[in-house]
Amino acid sequence: MLKNFNVIGDDRGSLISIESKTDIPFEIKRVYYIFGNKNNIRRGFHAHKNLQQLLIAVSGSCKILIDSGKSKEEVLLDSPKKGLLIKELLWREMFDFSADCVLLVLASEHYDEKDYIRDYNQFLDLWKK
Ligand code: TYD
Repeated sequence: MLKNFNVIGDDRGSLISIESKTDIPFEIKRVYYIFGNKNNIRRGFHAHKNLQQLLIAVSGSCKILIDSGKSKEEVLLDSPKKGLLIKELLWREMFDFSADCVLLVLASEHYDEKDYIRDYNQFLDLWKK
C-alpha cells in the first residue's frame, strides 16, 4: 500500500515526520537503509511471517515487486514523500536501483532470520493452506 506523507515545507526546504501508530500502523523497532547498489542487481527474494515494513526511497529511485501469491504488482519509489507499506506474508523483490538510491526501511520487529521465508515454493504453499 502506497502512502503519501505530509510535507512540512517552508522557505528553507522540506521536512517529513513519521510517527509510529499515527502515520504507520506499527511501532518502529528497527531502521535500516540500503544504498550503493551495483548496476542491475536484484535484492529481497523473500517474505516475512510477521514483520511489517515501510520502504521509502529517501534519495533516488527503485522498483519493488510485491507478490501476494495470487497477484503481482510493481511499485516505483521515486520520492521521499512516498512510502510503501509491506505487510507480512508478501514476497518482495527490489530492483532498478538508481546509483543514488538510498532505500530507508522502517521495520516492526528486530532482525530475526527465523521470520524469513526465502523459498518461493514454500511461500506459495502458505497460500494454499
Ligand atoms: P538480506 O535480507 O539478504 O537483504 P535483502 O533483503 O535486501 O536482499 O540481508 C543481507 C544481510 O544483512 C544478511 O546477512 C542479513 C543481514 N541483515 C541484518 O543483519 N540485519 C538486518 O536488519 C537486515 C535487514 C539484514
